[in-house]
Amino acid sequence: MTQPSPAIAFYERHPISAAQIMARLQAQRGSLDGLSPPDLFDHDQDHYGALAANDALGAAANMAAGKTVADFCAGLGGPARYYAHAFGVSVTGVELTPARVDGAAALTKLVGLEDRVRVVEGNVMDVPLDDESTDAVVSQEAFLHVPETARALGEAYRILKKGGRLAFTDWVLHEPMTDAEAAVMKRGQAVQDLQSPDSYQTLLREAGFTVVAVDDLTAEWGPILEKRFAMYRALREETEKAGTPSGDDAFYESYALLVALVTRGTLGGARFTAEK
Ligand SMILES: C[S@@+](CC[C@H](N)C(=O)[O-])C[C@H]1O[C@@H](n2cnc3c(N)ncnc32)[C@H](O)[C@@H]1O
Repeated sequence: MTQPSPAIAFYERHPISAAQIMARLQAQRGSLDGLSPPDLFDHDQDHYGALAANDALGAAANMAAGKTVADFCAGLGGPARYYAHAFGVSVTGVELTPARVDGAAALTKLVGLEDRVRVVEGNVMDVPLDDESTDAVVSQEAFLHVPETARALGEAYRILKKGGRLAFTDWVLHEPMTDAEAAVMKRGQAVQDLQSPDSYQTLLREAGFTVVAVDDLTAEWGPILEKRFAMYRALREETEKAGTPSGDDAFYESYALLVALVTRGTLGGARFTAEK
């Protein structure tokens, strides 16, 4: 029997879920009627730096009203809905975990954005979109789960129109982790082999891209991750009470290590902007 992808197994029990978001909004508002996109934005962004990170990525990707965007590893569609709302673009998210695809559809319907946001089930190593069909490709904190990064970058290149931009953020290695540290990250958060800022640039060039910018986010991620870890510890209690997925011990153990590794500068974050 084939093993399910570690990323799918991780995201099926992730404490941020559509059920958790809806349970929280129901408790806060008494009803899920009449929601608009901004009502979700405090809850549905599964990356670091909240909406400011989306604004930076949208600007890097040259998003503008009427353009088409592919969001690789779209999760619950939080960034996709934000881009549609704030930049006026139409977004197709590509997402591996079926529960996330279903959750994205439910949340998008709840706020009436179905005409400009869809999240399709698929793997970014084999994207179900046509050649030269999109103006921009974005992704946030997700390629760390993808076994073959070069294939995902190649797929971004293939579906982009000439002159289109790829802008993404991801974890990067500034120096090697020990084998024991890598094992904790793999077990707790389905982390695959990570790139360094230099190896990412090499992969982008090999895929055919011109590298436009590399922004080191490591210093700003340290405090963000500490706050996010506190948020997750509170969410564990909330989700256990609500009966929605709450993550497991391995996740919380790996998150503590993540904060330590980023604070120590071994691991960090970067935003890459590249053009076809
Ligand atoms: C950290 S979440 C980010 C979600 C979204 N980008 C956001 O910022 O809210 C990473 C997502 O990547 C998805 N993913 C992991 N590997 C993937 C792959 N090979 N193809 C498509 N999606 C993948 C996971 O299922 C998960 O939903």
